Amino acid sequence: MTEKRDDLYLPSREFVEQAHIQSRAEYERMWKQSIEDPDTFWGYIAKDFHWFKPWTQVYRGEPEIGDNEWFVGGKTNICYNCLDAQIEKGRGDKVALLFQGEPEADCKRFTYNDLLKHVCRFANALKKNGVKKGDRIVLYLPMIWQLPVVMLACARIGAVHTVVFGGFSAEALADRMLACGAKKMVTTNGYWRSGQKINAKANADKACMLCANAGLTIDDVFVVDRMVDFEVPYITYRDTALSKELMLDEISDYCPAEKMDAEDPLFIMYTSGSTGSPKGTLHTTAGYMVYTYTTFKYIFDYKEDDIFFCTADIGWITGHSYIVYGPLLNGATTVMYESVPTYPEPDRFWHIIDKFKVTIFYTAPTVIRALMNQDIQWIEKHDLSTLRLLGSVGEPINPEAWHWYSHYVGHDRCPIVDTWWQTEAGGVLISTIPGAFGSKPGSAALPFFGVKPVVLRSRTSGDEPAVEADVNEKGELCLASAWPGIMRTLYGEPERHQNGYYTQQPGYFFTGDGAYKDVDGYFWITGRIDDVVNISGHRLGTVEIEDALLSHPAIVEAAVVGYPHKVKGEDLYAFVILDKNSKESEEDIRKELKAVVRSDIGPIAVPGKIQFVREMPKNRSGKVVRRILRKIASNEIDEISDSMINILAEPGVVDEIAQNRIGDK
Ligand code: WTA
Repeated sequence: MTEKRDDLYLPSREFVEQAHIQSRAEYERMWKQSIEDPDTFWGYIAKDFHWFKPWTQVYRGEPEIGDNEWFVGGKTNICYNCLDAQIEKGRGDKVALLFQGEPEADCKRFTYNDLLKHVCRFANALKKNGVKKGDRIVLYLPMIWQLPVVMLACARIGAVHTVVFGGFSAEALADRMLACGAKKMVTTNGYWRSGQKINAKANADKACMLCANAGLTIDDVFVVDRMVDFEVPYITYRDTALSKELMLDEISDYCPAEKMDAEDPLFIMYTSGSTGSPKGTLHTTAGYMVYTYTTFKYIFDYKEDDIFFCTADIGWITGHSYIVYGPLLNGATTVMYESVPTYPEPDRFWHIIDKFKVTIFYTAPTVIRALMNQDIQWIEKHDLSTLRLLGSVGEPINPEAWHWYSHYVGHDRCPIVDTWWQTEAGGVLISTIPGAFGSKPGSAALPFFGVKPVVLRSRTSGDEPAVEADVNEKGELCLASAWPGIMRTLYGEPERHQNGYYTQQPGYFFTGDGAYKDVDGYFWITGRIDDVVNISGHRLGTVEIEDALLSHPAIVEAAVVGYPHKVKGEDLYAFVILDKNSKESEEDIRKELKAVVRSDIGPIAVPGKIQFVREMPKNRSGKVVRRILRKIASNEIDEISDSMINILAEPGVVDEIAQNRIGDK
């Protein structure tokens, strides 16, 4: 049983006794060394990897301005370390990847030997078709086993992969291809989602056309056959059927791993920020490798016999770090599944845990809340007794969901690690270390090695120095150190990297999250303090959605904010001003606006509520005061203070907008 003390849940003695780190004192010793002497700390861990050439310096840079290099001068290959090095350690016949497709019978097991062979064959097929080191290549692939295989194949030959989440529209895909100048893409003929066959290739084709219109010709589209009987049109001079390539005699089962410089780019992952266009976080080879390996090992207290199941989509950072790289670097067995948690029945995850005897389960609060609402028989009919540790990621976990998760999934026996981090970080930054100290529902707990978080008071002018908040005082969560997994820059936008992260609180990395620290040193994340929202674990920028709404000819102004949603965590509330000359009904326009967002960004970004307003609450210099709109959307109208209203050019609009607020159904 986990033991409860106040709101602190301690791991059981049995758990502690088998854990890598068994006390808070031991954790603190390691953390202190990681901050005071990072070279010794990370250098010691990195020795376990395969290097073609050792590094000459562990760390070089200036963390205060985001200039970071790790394992300087070293040469390595992350794919080699994920596969070949595991085989050399005797794990060739161990299962590396368990794939569960949507059709139950479509279940595949790949040993480390199998995976290496597939990866090499894909790598050779890509190489034969001209993909080479340094090329950016967009992977518009859903959760099929070929996605991790292609990622590893790219890493093996030094091509920089950019995985674009399958739920993004052709427009959003094209934006990302244009932003990184990728002339090559891998996609699929189709995939399964809730019993439907989805045609990914049509979106891919449209994105290529949009790129061509914007001056970027796509040279190659490689198509993976996920569906057997799903014909899609091929454009002969551009498209290559990978299945046919892989059958060629000249495609060998072995492909040497490229010797990559420690700081060579590994991948670009696009994420949303406060301004319109998506940001391409650039992650490089060795630092990301060492960091994902270490976080996976200690946070999930990973042991050789564990079966690890992370439910994220590989199209987001969580899937990159904790379905693919982190687990494989540890020689683990990692599970991936296709489709959604509720199809064909709401017991998909419980079934997969039972079927594969999963021991560590990592999911998101939004998923937990959705599954909590299902009949309890769905969970009770499965044997979850193999589970020994649970994880949560993506947003603060509300205590109700935490307790349900702990009781029904963890049988009051499994510790829960609430892991706080972000795309920019490469791996987890704040979490419980499960054998070392307890969890408090709703708190992400303590910093991981190499991470020094500080809560700072917000500054009103550029001259003010940074001031730390008191214990329990809410402030801006910033980071005062460099850890190996941190992004190196925003691809092609070094100034945006500087201005976006290192100027808000000069000398610190600004995370965009609010937080406070309690007397035990535990961090409590209070959510984003910028214009970023988290809808069902999908990170979106409200400005991107406003841009989409404004592209509708009848809309003259738009402001989008997040508001709390019972299952999704947050949902989007759009306030829009209609052109006076518009003749269409509000209902028709509402439908059109939803369609515009769906096509510009994707279904995940469609606002749940759209309210037509006469005027926005603007301050005297004409800026929309979003804080007020957030309060209205969240039904916290009483909390709108006089001082907020007094700065408005037209204070009366607040009542007007509040009266017409769209309630919950
Ligand atoms: C939020 C996902 C509270 C946070 C890994 C962060 C969390 C953003 C947690 C990053 C957590 C993630 N508790 N909030 N455990 N995990 N967040 O880039 O607001 O998709 O800044 O990375 O998600 O989202 P991203």
